[in-house]
Amino acid sequence: MKKVIIIGATSGIGRAIARIYANEGNLVGATGRRQELLYSLQLEYPNNVVTECFDVTALDNITHLESLIEKMEGLDLLIYNAGYGEASQEVDWEIDQTTVQTNVLGFIEIIDYAYNYFQKQGYGQLATTSSIASARGNSHAPAYSASKAFQSVYFEGLYMKLKKKKSSIFVTDIQPGFVNTKMAKGRTFWVSSPAKAAEQIVVAIEKKKWRVYITHRWWVIAKMIKWMPNFVYHNIG
Ligand SMILES: NC(=O)c1ccc[n+]([C@@H]2O[C@H](COP(=O)([O-])OP(=O)(O)OC[C@H]3O[C@@H](n4cnc5c(N)ncnc54)[C@H](OP(=O)(O)O)[C@@H]3O)[C@@H](O)[C@H]2O)c1
Repeated sequence: MKKVIIIGATSGIGRAIARIYANEGNLVGATGRRQELLYSLQLEYPNNVVTECFDVTALDNITHLESLIEKMEGLDLLIYNAGYGEASQEVDWEIDQTTVQTNVLGFIEIIDYAYNYFQKQGYGQLATTSSIASARGNSHAPAYSASKAFQSVYFEGLYMKLKKKKSSIFVTDIQPGFVNTKMAKGRTFWVSSPAKAAEQIVVAIEKKKWRVYITHRWWVIAKMIKWMPNFVYHNIG
């Protein structure tokens, strides 16, 4: 039985990942701000889900994390899935601040804590839900794409560090395209269900892949965006 914390498991992709791990008999530590949704997940899996309600932009992430690890009596895998992203026609400080607090500061505080926890333990796994949007700048949501690039590049650095050390700690950077949740905002191109996305995510984590595109065919788009010449990309991105 694996002990899995999912930061941001109240809805969408995180909740679907939580269901898979709980259905397989693992112990899931689910977090988010919406207490009623955490409660309903726990009711669904009374023996396999414990919860901790907190906002990753507040100043008490580590207190909550320690409390959750104590309730679970250990930790094998932590998935940072909480995310915030809004389009901003103008440059909007409130949007940019919340984006950075959620996707960068909350992310790095929790990932650093879990990394050091796993270092002491001698093994463990980390995953983050970044995005295809991490590949390049985006004129519609500049802070979002930059924050996801931060996650993705940070994870690549951790991966290289751990590989050099031949460590038993593994990292997975999850890059979804469009998944049918509130965050996809009604997009219709190559949209997958949260359940299908979660299925592919769990397989990648269990195979200890360092990066995965969700669904897999989004690999093509990721490479196209990455290598598109500036004179083309800067007119469409
Ligand atoms: N859907 C897509 O097309 C898509 C594409 C690429 C990447 N992603 C990434 O996938 C991840 C999951 O998103 P989703 O699509 O499943 O959307 P979602 O249903 O809105 O899920 C977002 C999750 O993050 C949690 N969260 C957000 N802000 C938080 C905060 N301040 N403190 C604690 N928890 C917070 C939410 O919980 P509470 O609201 O209860 O706090 C919720 O559980 C995000 O990181 C997103 O950037 C999504």
